[in-house]
Amino acid sequence: MQKSSLSPLSYLNEISYSYWKAQVLFVAVDMDMFTLTAGNGKSCKAIAKKLRTDLRATEMILNALVSLEFLRKIKEVYRNTDISNRYLVKGSPLYQGDRIHHFHNMLDYWSKLSDAVKTGKPTAYDDAEEKVDEKRLREFIRAMHNIGVVQAGEIRKKLNLKKYYSLLDLAGGQGTYAVRFAKENPKLKAVVFDLPEVIKITREHIKESGMKGKVTAKAGDCLKDSFGKGMYDIVFVSNLLHIYKPVENRKILKKCWDSLLKKGIVVVQEFVLNSAKTQPLFGSLFSLNMLMGTHRGSSYSYVEMKEWLKDVGFKNVKRVDLDLDSGLVIGHKS
Ligand SMILES: C[S@@+](CC[C@H](N)C(=O)[O-])C[C@H]1O[C@@H](n2cnc3c(N)ncnc32)[C@H](O)[C@@H]1O
Repeated sequence: MQKSSLSPLSYLNEISYSYWKAQVLFVAVDMDMFTLTAGNGKSCKAIAKKLRTDLRATEMILNALVSLEFLRKIKEVYRNTDISNRYLVKGSPLYQGDRIHHFHNMLDYWSKLSDAVKTGKPTAYDDAEEKVDEKRLREFIRAMHNIGVVQAGEIRKKLNLKKYYSLLDLAGGQGTYAVRFAKENPKLKAVVFDLPEVIKITREHIKESGMKGKVTAKAGDCLKDSFGKGMYDIVFVSNLLHIYKPVENRKILKKCWDSLLKKGIVVVQEFVLNSAKTQPLFGSLFSLNMLMGTHRGSSYSYVEMKEWLKDVGFKNVKRVDLDLDSGLVIGHKS
C-alpha cells in the first residue's frame, strides 16, 4: 500500500481494516483452500462440500479472495492466480502457508499491544510457563523454513559461498540455510547450532534432506555455551540478534569472532533499520513484535550492528540489501 497514491482518508481506512484482509488470508490458508482451487479450479459448491463449510459463507470468503487477487472467478469456477499457485499450494517449493499461519498465531499477543506499550513487558508468553509448547515450536520452525527457502535463494546470488569449506549456521533453526548452502557447494561442511528443543527438529530435517554427514547439528545456548574456537571460515547468524538486547548481541558476536578462522567472515541477516529506526516499515513494526515476543529484543539499525561488529574487531563491515526488508551485515576477521 502506497500512502502517496491514496487520499488521506483512504489511507486511514486501508490501515484500519487491514486485519480483515489478513484474516481472510489466514482462514483460507488454514483451510488449505488454494490446494483445492489449484489446476482447473472448483465451484463454490464443490469447495464447501469438500471443506464441510456453510455454502453462503464459503461464497463470501471466496469472493473476498477474488477481490484480494488470490483467486479468479470464471463462470462460477474459482481458480488460483499466479501468486496463490506459486506460494499457497501445499507442496509447492516456495510454499509460504506456514509463515502465514505463524502470523495468524501472533494475532493473540498482538491484540495485547496496549498492555506491552504500558508495561514494556512481553505479551506472547507467561514466564511462569516453563514447558515448551511442542506444536507451536514446530509451527514456528516451519514458518522460519518458508522464509529461509526464499532468502537462501537470494543470498546465494549475492554472496560467493563457493569459496568456503566450513560454515556455522548459528541459531540455524531446522537448518534450512546450512542444508541449502551445503547442497550447492560440495566441499562445504556445515554445523547447525540451536537450542536443544529445536535441534531435535534440525536432526529430522537434515536426515530428510539426505545431507547427513555434510551437515551436522549441535545443541546449546549461544549465550552460555561455546560453539568452538578457530573452526569456521563463515559464521551465518540469521534472525537471531533481534531476540536479544545489545549487550547480549555483542557477547554473541564476540563468540562468533572466536569461532572463526583467521580469514573468516561473519554474515548477519536481520531486518535492518535506518539510523532513525523508522524505516523500512516491516522492520519498525517487527520491533513491536519483539517487544511482545521477547524480553529485550528489537529490530536494529545498520549503524548499531556495524558498531557492535567493529567493537568486537571485525573489519570491512558492509551491508547487502535483500528482498522482504531483510539485509546482510558482513564483517571480516582480517
Ligand atoms: C527467528 S529464528 C531464526 C532461525 C534461522 N536462523 C532462520 O533465519 O531461519 C531464531 C532461532 O534462534 C534460536 N535461538 C534463540 N536463542 C538462542 C540461544 N540462546 N542459543 C541458540 N539458539 C537460539 C531459536 O531456537 C530459533 O531457531
